[in-house]
Amino acid sequence: MSDSKKFASLTIGDKTLELPIYSPTEGPDVIDIRKLYAQGDVFTYDPGFTSTAACDSTITYIDGAAGILLHRGYTIGELTEKSHYLEVCYLLLNGELPSAEELEHFEYRITRHTMLHEQMMNFFRGFRRDAHPMAIMTGVVGAMSAFYHDSLDITDPQQREVASVRMISKMPTIAAMAFKYSKGQPFVYPSNDLDFASNFLRMCFATPVEEYEVDPILSRAMDRIFTLHADHEQNASTSTVRLAGSSGANPFACIAAGIACLWGPTHGGANQACLEMLEEIGTVDRIPEYIARAKDKNDSFRLMGFGHRVYKNFDPRAVVLKENADEVLELLGIENNPKLQVAKALEAAALEDPYFKEKKLFPNVDFYSGIILEAMGFPTSMFTPIFALSRTVGWIAQWKEMLDDPQLKIGRPRQLYQGESQRDYVDVEDR
Ligand code: SDX
Repeated sequence: MSDSKKFASLTIGDKTLELPIYSPTEGPDVIDIRKLYAQGDVFTYDPGFTSTAACDSTITYIDGAAGILLHRGYTIGELTEKSHYLEVCYLLLNGELPSAEELEHFEYRITRHTMLHEQMMNFFRGFRRDAHPMAIMTGVVGAMSAFYHDSLDITDPQQREVASVRMISKMPTIAAMAFKYSKGQPFVYPSNDLDFASNFLRMCFATPVEEYEVDPILSRAMDRIFTLHADHEQNASTSTVRLAGSSGANPFACIAAGIACLWGPTHGGANQACLEMLEEIGTVDRIPEYIARAKDKNDSFRLMGFGHRVYKNFDPRAVVLKENADEVLELLGIENNPKLQVAKALEAAALEDPYFKEKKLFPNVDFYSGIILEAMGFPTSMFTPIFALSRTVGWIAQWKEMLDDPQLKIGRPRQLYQGESQRDYVDVEDR
């Protein structure tokens, strides 16, 4: 962090504190309050971190007002159009686009780590068949620390690297196996001849009794979905990974924590919730009823896949996904998909509505992704696992960045205590 030339003055009673202000390469200035408690004997109060930067980072930047998302400086639009998921993984992890040789080496390493330790199969079989795949993923990824003892030492850069490669490579295998297990079908082992997205599709849809030909358009669409979900700066699950990692927890435990957080319906779980909502709405004529419910303070219903803490304009990922949905559905000959029709009409109605306009609520990444995934043959329960496998690289890049930060401290927020002051214990017979 560069030395500050600007300061903010804060007067508390008869004390005035000078707080350094830092200017980032992009985005608003940041006031450094680290000495506030020591010098001013006060805390700041910011539940939900609406105004708090919890770290400095060089990985991803969002301009929420303009609807821009940059990974290492490159726009998400350009990356989804010209690049592909594994190249974006390399970029997120290393800061620069790879040379052809570096990319080949990286792809080779990822491809060679896709198999799971065979004993992990027993672990899968311990789950109920109707378990949600996110529950299985949280458990299995956490359990990786019981299988890969040689990549748990976070102080060893080599072990950190091996753990990172293992998770990026194995996450599709774990997600696909969770899917197969829920269907009662045999697991399909990864195939090293295929690219990352095609391999995942094959592990999900091939069976031992029938050859599965991966359609290149579907594989490209899958790869785009992975790319669009790869990272998103300090969102809830990434912050969870960072917080877990700040205690020195092993990498598998940290990523398992991220998966658990992502599952929530206001975060990554919104893609499943959104498709279920579109299904419930059913037909375009029912949209006004649901818009009215979303605006009603006394109704807990909210438009899933709408709104964002940072974007106060279009989420650029939703724009790409909307186009992708048209392309995939056309390929599959289901252009007249009723959910896509409801989604488009719902988007149009919300964008015209004064409530959504005033609150700057736009479709987010979870609004159109489910329609594409369903058209590809995935059940709703697989939507969030696919988000999780795509986001693994972002979690890892942010976790590694944190460990390399010389200012790393265990995350330990303070509180505004509103409970009882010290009081005397009363014996049960006297209460
Ligand atoms: C993801 O952070 C990330 O980067 C996350 C993510 C990533 O890639 O990691 O982008 C992925 O999590 C996308 C978001 C998925 N969630 C949903 O689609 C669920 C529906 N959306 C919301 O619940 C909500 O918009 C959030 C959780 C996304 C954002 O919440 P905030 O920033 O805390 O905002 P808020 O809930 O306080 O909303 C502000 C106002 C409120 O009204 P008022 O109290 O001010 O009158 O807008 C209203 C809200 O009631 N509002 C909505 C709404 N979203 C917000 N009203 C109706 N429908 C909605 N969807």
